[in-house]
Amino acid sequence: MDYHKPVMLEECLDALNIKEDGVYVDVTYGGGGHSKAILERLGKNGKLIAFDQDEDAKDNLIEDERLIFVENNFRFLKNYLRLYGIKEVDGILGDLGISSHQINVAERGFSYRFDADLDMRMDRESDFSAQNVVNEYSEQALQNLLSEYGEVRNAKTLANAIAQARNARKIRTIKDFMNAVEPKIRGNRNRYLAQVFQAIRIEVNDEMGALKAFLEQALQALKPQGRLVIMSYHSLEDRLTKNFMKKGNFGRDFIQDDYGKIYRPFKVLTKKAIEASAAELKQNPRARSAKLRVAEKAESLAKNDYSRE
Ligand SMILES: C[S@@+](CC[C@H](N)C(=O)[O-])C[C@H]1O[C@@H](n2cnc3c(N)ncnc32)[C@H](O)[C@@H]1O
Repeated sequence: MDYHKPVMLEECLDALNIKEDGVYVDVTYGGGGHSKAILERLGKNGKLIAFDQDEDAKDNLIEDERLIFVENNFRFLKNYLRLYGIKEVDGILGDLGISSHQINVAERGFSYRFDADLDMRMDRESDFSAQNVVNEYSEQALQNLLSEYGEVRNAKTLANAIAQARNARKIRTIKDFMNAVEPKIRGNRNRYLAQVFQAIRIEVNDEMGALKAFLEQALQALKPQGRLVIMSYHSLEDRLTKNFMKKGNFGRDFIQDDYGKIYRPFKVLTKKAIEASAAELKQNPRARSAKLRVAEKAESLAKNDYSRE
């Protein structure tokens, strides 16, 4: 089985606007589909730095001296660029979320289709898994994350069912967890379970925290007119990305200078997010929820205005 079929490959590549001798970052290497295509467009002096916090991604490593692979979280983007002596980059690609590989391997504990330990860690060096979330979080905290990250309609009822189940016996496996969830399913079973599992996964991997840290560093790392290309599969991620590209922060308001001039760190190149074509959706249903947003870093941005070190 394929490790992962890259989504909107051509669209992402075009959005990166690859220059032959440019320096690019793919922060979500996965099966290396996007990275491979980037390398194909780079000349011999080009460079690609790829991140993935999942050690399995290394199994797909492309042998190429222009590629540097970082087995770590993309929230450390700047540290690693500094480590490799890279001051600025021409483009950054993020294809967020999990790979097909992660969801298809039973022992990773991401999918309700299998029984295994309830795990869901992308980074298996981490000592925090889905078992910690479902057994240790307060009922209120469970309700909040189910409703915020999963948009689970009966989040309160489900949080209560999880709390009751773990009081009787620690939840260790997907089966234990499903025993608590199954009676509370509302509406379409697969959709409901996908939402519940997605919510827990986002919490386990602190996906929103990592995305925020990464976006701020991406802005600092890009050259003027460098491209930021982000593909997300969750409405919250898409909203964070959209707002950040517009305003350079995650709050409600634009930043203004003393004269009321609005700070716009990027030129947004996608007024509306790009979605996969009908032809691609036919081939790859996983592309269904993908939203691609592209921005170009402003030409005259004084970088120090935005440094938060
Ligand atoms: C959707 S897949 C990327 C697929 C890839 N573009 C391809 O074509 O094969 C997302 C990958 O990003 C990794 N990932 C997700 N969040 C990450 C993070 N915060 N830091 C590093 N890697 C991350 C996951 O482990 C997964 O392999």
